[in-house]
Amino acid sequence: MGSFRTLKDFFIKHKWRYLLGIFWLIIVDIVQLIVPQILRTVTDLLEVEQLTSSSLIKYAVYIVLTGLVIGLGRYYWRIYIMGTSYELEYYIRNKLFRHLQTLSTNYFNKNKTGDLMAHGTEDINRIRMALGPGIVMITDAIFMTIAALIMMIYTTNIRLAVMAIIPLPFLALTIGKFGKVIFKRSKLVQESFSDLSDNAQENFSGIRVVKSFVQEEREIKKFTKSNKQNFKANMHLIKIHGLFEPIVRFISSLSYLIVIWYGGTLVIRGTISLGDFVAFISYLGLLVWPMMAIGFVINILQRGAASMDRINKIMAEKPEIYDHEDVINKKSIEGEIEFRNVSFKYPESIEYALKDISFKVPKGSTLGIVGRTGSGKTTIITLLLRLYEIEEGEILVDGVNVSKIPLKTLRENIGYVSQDNFLFSTSIKDNISFAFEDEIKNEQIYEAAKISQVYDNIIEFPQKFDTSLGERGVTLSGGQRQRTALARAIIKNPDILILDDSLSAVDTQTEEKILDNLEKVMKNRTNMLIAHRISTVKNSDQIIVFDEGKIVERGIHEELIEKKGLYNDIYNKQLLEEKISNK
Ligand SMILES: Nc1ncnc2c1ncn2[C@@H]1O[C@H](COP(=O)(O)OP(=O)(O)OP(=O)(O)O)[C@@H](O)[C@H]1O
Ligand SMILES: [Mg+2]
Repeated sequence: MGSFRTLKDFFIKHKWRYLLGIFWLIIVDIVQLIVPQILRTVTDLLEVEQLTSSSLIKYAVYIVLTGLVIGLGRYYWRIYIMGTSYELEYYIRNKLFRHLQTLSTNYFNKNKTGDLMAHGTEDINRIRMALGPGIVMITDAIFMTIAALIMMIYTTNIRLAVMAIIPLPFLALTIGKFGKVIFKRSKLVQESFSDLSDNAQENFSGIRVVKSFVQEEREIKKFTKSNKQNFKANMHLIKIHGLFEPIVRFISSLSYLIVIWYGGTLVIRGTISLGDFVAFISYLGLLVWPMMAIGFVINILQRGAASMDRINKIMAEKPEIYDHEDVINKKSIEGEIEFRNVSFKYPESIEYALKDISFKVPKGSTLGIVGRTGSGKTTIITLLLRLYEIEEGEILVDGVNVSKIPLKTLRENIGYVSQDNFLFSTSIKDNISFAFEDEIKNEQIYEAAKISQVYDNIIEFPQKFDTSLGERGVTLSGGQRQRTALARAIIKNPDILILDDSLSAVDTQTEEKILDNLEKVMKNRTNMLIAHRISTVKNSDQIIVFDEGKIVERGIHEELIEKKGLYNDIYNKQLLEEKISNK
């Protein structure tokens, strides 16, 4: 149970609630133990025909009163123990999410989203089960078992008590075993259901592809197969569920059998009274649940501990990228960028993505980067943003190694339009103003949208800037997405602006307009333009050409054309393509 040690602070803070909960739990148990004593007295009085109707009412009122106290007590322990366990769930989930936000992008490459989701839901749920219902069951099992046994011996004799409880440990054992099998099978049900919903989800989001490739029939077959799997898993589970109750009833009825046979003999012999007999049977009834609880609780605690271990493991995960001790106090960025002999290999990759890269971008100038797909252009940016740590070479911003610049300063002052143009499922307005925590002026948003030439598109939507994107909203065209992502970066007014293939989905005319607009924005800042189209970079102060992770050419447009190398090849091909498409 050592795994739960990480929750010490939470327990210390909420110890009173747990203690109060346990207090009420025990009160309920004690009152439950009184009830058979009332039954015993009533039966004994009935037998000797001494029960008057007024005393009958008195005992009836006692029973009602015990019912009230039991009800009240159950309400309170539920609030105190179960309620606190839900608060624990809330606490762990928040802590986990906060921690995950500190981990580097590489962590999210290595761990599947589905797994992380499972940790955040199932694992946390199991921890709650262990520390809510689990605590209730343990307390109940220990206290009730001991107390009911004492009461049994007290009302009758030790021999009857021992004989009656002989079958009960088997009850605990069987339930423990059954619990394991049930858990395994319900897990299979869960898994097959999540397969099924993944299947449907992917189909719905890819419905255009499915329809255009006329693959509905195959999709139906795939879905039916997955649905059948789920049905089978459910049948598998229900079979064991069906066996569960009869077995529990059978084992506990063995106890009753012993009591009726042996206890009955004792009554006939006059060793115990009929009231004792009735009370004893009631106590036996009270013992069945704690015995079942012992069976359940061992599994619940084991699973909870295993889940806690998994969560602890994630929480112990150190962020790969963080501010080191030698970080300098730097709040702003001028904008000079330099790569010095940088070579880089992605973790878990054998090939170098970058080989001995050196270049310098003076403050306020524009660097164009071109090169074939997969040649390492995006990698340059991920390293500049310190999404990965480098081991060979140096990356300097304003002459300072990026590992010495506070991450916040570095990233806040770089406006990066990434190649995938990821937009969130909120309004266009919220997407563009993503970098700002507080609300900003609409004019600023409009201005950014105008520069990136997406303003006219947006105001054509009925809800304009409040239009929702994503699943429940409109779908933007590829070019509109790019330009919205561009507006999101421009509005930050960053010292370094980086466009990674951000104009590829717009036509050359729109591109020209955007570049014209950007000229004002790009003035006085450092810019990096990554592109496949020469037209995007041709006016840059400096252009570097990448091939297989190496810089193969550098210079300005005219110089590179004269070199008649890779750049010239790409340029001529594009000219040719343009001519063909204009015909
Ligand atoms: N996270 C990653 N893990 C491992 N390898 C990666 C990762 N990201 C990129 N690579 C590899 O690194 C090389 C360079 O990729 P990069 O994304 O920098 O290319 P690019 O020049 O931007 O290409 P494109 O023009 O298609 O965007 C490729 O071989 C790619 O497969
Ligand atoms: Mg790229």
